[in-house]
Amino acid sequence: MLEGADATDVLTADDPLYEELYDVRKEAESVGNSVEVAAIMPAVHAMRAQGPVIKGRLRELLGLPLHERHARAAGRPHWTVLSYDACEAAFRNPAIFSNSVQGHDNPADEKAMGILEMDPPMHRAYRRTIQPKFNMPEALGWWREHTIDTIIERLIARMAKGERADLNLDYCARIPVYTITTAIGLDGDEALRFRHAYLNSTSSSRSVTMEQRISNARIVESTVLGLIERRRAEPQDDLVSFLLGMKLQMPGEAPRALTDREILAHVKLVMVAGGGTSWRQMGIALFALLTHRDQLDAVRQDRALVDDAIEESLRWNPTAPYFYRMVMQDTEFYGHHIPEGAVLELGLGPANRDPARWERPDEYDLFRPKLTNMAFGLGTHRCLGMNVARVEINRGINALLDHFPALRLDPDAPAPFMTGGLEQQGVSGLPVLLG
Ligand code: HEM
Repeated sequence: MLEGADATDVLTADDPLYEELYDVRKEAESVGNSVEVAAIMPAVHAMRAQGPVIKGRLRELLGLPLHERHARAAGRPHWTVLSYDACEAAFRNPAIFSNSVQGHDNPADEKAMGILEMDPPMHRAYRRTIQPKFNMPEALGWWREHTIDTIIERLIARMAKGERADLNLDYCARIPVYTITTAIGLDGDEALRFRHAYLNSTSSSRSVTMEQRISNARIVESTVLGLIERRRAEPQDDLVSFLLGMKLQMPGEAPRALTDREILAHVKLVMVAGGGTSWRQMGIALFALLTHRDQLDAVRQDRALVDDAIEESLRWNPTAPYFYRMVMQDTEFYGHHIPEGAVLELGLGPANRDPARWERPDEYDLFRPKLTNMAFGLGTHRCLGMNVARVEINRGINALLDHFPALRLDPDAPAPFMTGGLEQQGVSGLPVLLG
């Protein structure tokens, strides 16, 4: 951790929870899906060359121990999709390839994760109640001014007191958790505890007991429901107040306000989808630059390249490389007859390294021709928070380059590497010298 830490500021203090919550490898181990990310890529390329769609689960095909991401997928036949075109075809056909594999297609379900699990037309109606707060002008305006620049400034000031830092823990981890929590309307100082309670309230962590899950779920719910009540009485400039003002328009029904549970589902999804992803992706983007010094130098000299560096990091190593779809009716797909009830494993990571779309796909090269990549998904469920993520990472990298012109990896610390699980990947750490 950082030298000369400031213990008086909760947001920037050396809280041991950062190390507990922001270790990519431990995170993968705790959900039972850790894998050596770089080591599987040659096998993935070989499989794709045999046909972009393959019967079986990727873990089976790679000879890895099974890990059940979604209980609803258990016992069903699986197909693995590894090319860009085939993943795109599946993403863009939600009528046949549904996201209901996540498990809760009824929004009234206590555990429902909101729009991520819905299909059209319900998905469209609910997404429209939250989308306006996530468009690019809002990301560059409200999100940046309201939250992102504030936390970046404080973190830079804290790091500037020392000569070394671990950018993973001291920087990348702290920006998204503060951004999301304060955007929702909670106090920034509550960010870490709230995320801890949230992560320990879900069924994916193996290290918590059922009782701990229930009590953490109560903390999350009472925190958000209490906030909704306060904002209903006195609206503020935050996401919960915004959602209280939005109307849900289901086809053929009269517009109505969102219920408290619908707002809770939106908030929980934004917390989980936005809290971990930007942290890991910012680390991956910095890892790419710090290990490709010529490209880092080019970005230093021409800041217009920061966006290209981020997009290439998303292509090269998207933090969330696999997503799943439930097959809703018998279908022919890339030479396979796939029955209703089967599950597709969509390899966004492998699609982003498809040699039919990118030359030298395993290399990080921010100068390559600009083509859409799949890190944020495509079609109906394309990431709601992608503009916010891009602004967080862009502002984060620019601020580091502004304040630490000699920023480089610490040669005396262990060299960082990509790690994690099939479903979430990131860097082992980012030890740097600042001056
Ligand atoms: C670099 C960071 C991020 C990556 C790589 C990423 C990736 C993705 C992907 C691949 C999906 C599509 C899932 C699917 O099709 O099943 C998705 C959906 C979503 N993401 Fe992100 N995400 C990131 C950051 C964020 C942030 C910062 C937020 C919120 C502030 C967010 C909120 C969401 C939400 C709400 C959805 C569901 C959208 C829907 O179902 O319509 N994400 N994300």
